[in-house]
Amino acid sequence: MITLDTVNLEIEGPVATIYLNRPDKKNAMNPQMHRDMNEALDAIEAAEDVKAVVITGNGDSFSAGMDLEECFLRPYDDPQLFYRTNLVALKWFQRLKAFPAVTIAKVNGYAFGGGFEVTGLCDLAIAAEDVKFGLSEINFGIFPAGGASWAATHNLSRKQALYYILTGATMTGTEAERYGLVNKAVPAEELDAATEKLVGRIVNKNPVTLRLAKEVYERTTHLDLPEAIDYDQAKLWELARLTSNEWITVALKQFEKRSYRPGLDTYKRDVA
Ligand code: COA
Repeated sequence: MITLDTVNLEIEGPVATIYLNRPDKKNAMNPQMHRDMNEALDAIEAAEDVKAVVITGNGDSFSAGMDLEECFLRPYDDPQLFYRTNLVALKWFQRLKAFPAVTIAKVNGYAFGGGFEVTGLCDLAIAAEDVKFGLSEINFGIFPAGGASWAATHNLSRKQALYYILTGATMTGTEAERYGLVNKAVPAEELDAATEKLVGRIVNKNPVTLRLAKEVYERTTHLDLPEAIDYDQAKLWELARLTSNEWITVALKQFEKRSYRPGLDTYKRDVA
């Protein structure tokens, strides 16, 4: 366990877990937490063989968003400080979106503003049914910024995104599943088990394949079909080279022996 001021990081083989750790402040993200998150992401990247990164909150909340006092009120009179303070946040939000390993938000309690955004930036998300998500910015006179509107528009339909952006209403975990912000909402007591099950389905995959699958998804969403196919074919050759053709030499060989069914399960990576 790596203990930073406001974040704890646990790396166990292919799984890294980041615990936001200001439970008395509902894990509101202060400038120190933004610095700590960059450090945690550095440590995970350095560990190299991490396939899944779970982000969760200690205590009874995921995160109540940006620390309204430390990030906005206090540095307000010093524009340079205000800018620098918030740049650190914008940096790790963008790193998270582009992170090479699979990112999973495990959400309980409150997830407002930046907490909503981090859920939306992660690749996958599991929430307790009674979570309260919200883009509360409109309730204090601004619009969701720093990527929070982007996270809404890229996870929700136009009507739902605008509803939550314009009203500041809260969304339960159950609603978040229905509208696409999270993959699954479960009773709070099942959150750990549901996340572990999801992580289990990720970590038995080839890490290169996971990374390239994310890259192909991200890049091809903006391309027309011919360009998308060109891109994915090039990435397939890259995959073959980087994995020594494991998909043919291991996975499909196991299929040939009928030792597993790819439609229902994944191949065994440690068996020739
Ligand atoms: N920034 C700074 N401090 C925050 C915070 C935030 N975003 N969210 C919670 N806190 C602090 C509270 O001020 C309180 O601090 P205190 O003990 O020093 O008074 C502590 O965390 C506990 O929160 P509290 O308000 O007592 O708990 P609650 O259960 O009554 O309400 C919230 C929880 C999250 C509904 C409420 O704190 C809130 O509305 N926070 C702001 C949420 C928000 O708008 N986030 C968007 C930011 S972009």
